[in-house]
Amino acid sequence: MSDSNTLLKINNLSVQYKTDDALIQALSSVSLEINKGMTFGLVGETGAGKTTIAKSIMRLIATPPGRITGGEILYNGSDLLKLSQQEMQRVRGAEISMIFQDPMTALDPVMTVGRQIAEVVEIHEKCSAAQAFVKANQMLEMVGIPETRANEYPHQFSGGMKQRVVIAIALACNPNLLIADEPTTALDVTVQRQILDLLLAISSESGAAIMLISHDIAVVTNVCERVLVMYHGRIVEELPTARLQESARHPYTRALIASVPDMATDKSRPLATISGRPPAVLTDPDGCAFADRCEFATERCVTSRPDLVPAGEKHKVACWHPQPAGPAIAEPVALPSGGGRCAENHVLDALGGVKENIRFTEAVRPRTGLEVPICSNCEAIFGRGAFPPMTRFQTDL
Ligand SMILES: Nc1ncnc2c1ncn2[C@@H]1O[C@H](COP(=O)(O)OP(=O)(O)OP(=O)(O)O)[C@@H](O)[C@H]1O
Ligand code: SF4
Ligand SMILES: [Mg+2]
Repeated sequence: MSDSNTLLKINNLSVQYKTDDALIQALSSVSLEINKGMTFGLVGETGAGKTTIAKSIMRLIATPPGRITGGEILYNGSDLLKLSQQEMQRVRGAEISMIFQDPMTALDPVMTVGRQIAEVVEIHEKCSAAQAFVKANQMLEMVGIPETRANEYPHQFSGGMKQRVVIAIALACNPNLLIADEPTTALDVTVQRQILDLLLAISSESGAAIMLISHDIAVVTNVCERVLVMYHGRIVEELPTARLQESARHPYTRALIASVPDMATDKSRPLATISGRPPAVLTDPDGCAFADRCEFATERCVTSRPDLVPAGEKHKVACWHPQPAGPAIAEPVALPSGGGRCAENHVLDALGGVKENIRFTEAVRPRTGLEVPICSNCEAIFGRGAFPPMTRFQTDL
């Protein structure tokens, strides 16, 4: 049951696409919750399933090839998947709006921008054409375009201005939730910041919740209160953005953070990359989908899939060996001879020793063959905050 502050709650959403030669499992049991007025970021590599979540909420998954095979999408408590087409038509735009990635294709090239905004207002607010035009002009001003340009066509606008028009259309009926799917990817970097600032300003003024979809964790960090990391059709970590640097514990999340260039503090640091590729979308591995690329993978990771479980306050992670909390980028330090704490904070003696009935066991990493210490109590990897703990252990060998 959702509480009164919950705007949207997705429970166990699964989506498949069936093409002539393949069945693609795009989403597997995805659950998430958005509170009223919240700014929420969805991050992941290409093909992770981000747009599929957005289109499912908007009921824009074309069937065929797509099919929602399970789950529910509760908006203010009622399941969007059970609404009639007519009821859903009202939800789109008036309650939930979506900004698509490419403003060039989102606008009609033969209609003035003012007319395009007014049309949406007229349909949803059932007002006269004159009233709709007044509102369209107000919306243009709100996104920083003078109303004197309302009678111009999309080709007369720059990319950033076109995206502002798209945002004006999306906001014309005061939606409670705005889904922005990679809204700045097609724009120059200088314009990207302006558009993100605009989204933020609008959210705080109108109280609309924002779901920002991006492959760039840095973009989401700048804009959102919460971040949700996706990998291969599943959510692997969710936590408050303010604690992302210090508290992220999934190896994939930490690798995403480490791959963001930090020009302010360390220009000499080589940019970290995540080797390998996500598994083919046709396969739904028995174990963790990240195992092939994860330097902490053990046998258990390959054979059994970790669930998304609580990992702290407002924090969930799906990993058998969550990494120790601490900066995602740190210098390796030596393994203390007297032992330490595992990532779950269990007190441990030196390798092989016993303390408080908890000890290190050894496991073999399939990718490197190196032996690593693992807590026998919770199976978390040894560490005291620095990342990656494996580097620290290796320096001691
Ligand atoms: N219409 C479709 N027909 C077949 N497969 C599809 C279709 N739409 C999406 N897929 C597949 O579903 C998976 C998830 O796609 P989705 O577009 O949701 O990913 P994404 O995270 O938004 O990626 P990107 O960052 O590239 O936009 C991908 O493997 C994709 O190829
Ligand atoms: S440690 Fe295991 S479960 Fe965790 S991300 Fe790596 S492969 Fe997946
Ligand atoms: Mg996408």
